[in-house]
Amino acid sequence: MDKKESLLKVKVYPNGPILVDGTVELTLADGTVIEKENPHFCRCGASKNKPYCDGSHVKIGFKD
Ligand code: FES
Repeated sequence: MDKKESLLKVKVYPNGPILVDGTVELTLADGTVIEKENPHFCRCGASKNKPYCDGSHVKIGFKD
């Protein structure tokens, strides 16, 4: 596997969440450690399921 193939890929969606492409080990605010596949993280602040996106960015008309 060359270096480019091994790089973690992260995509910032216009006016939307951040996608981490792959399985990650995630430590939550309370210290719980979980594995999560292809997590979409909220960056608008409106999600009711933080740190994940729940689609609320569409409802609030989030613009980046
Ligand atoms: S980015 Fe989707 S709910 Fe915040």
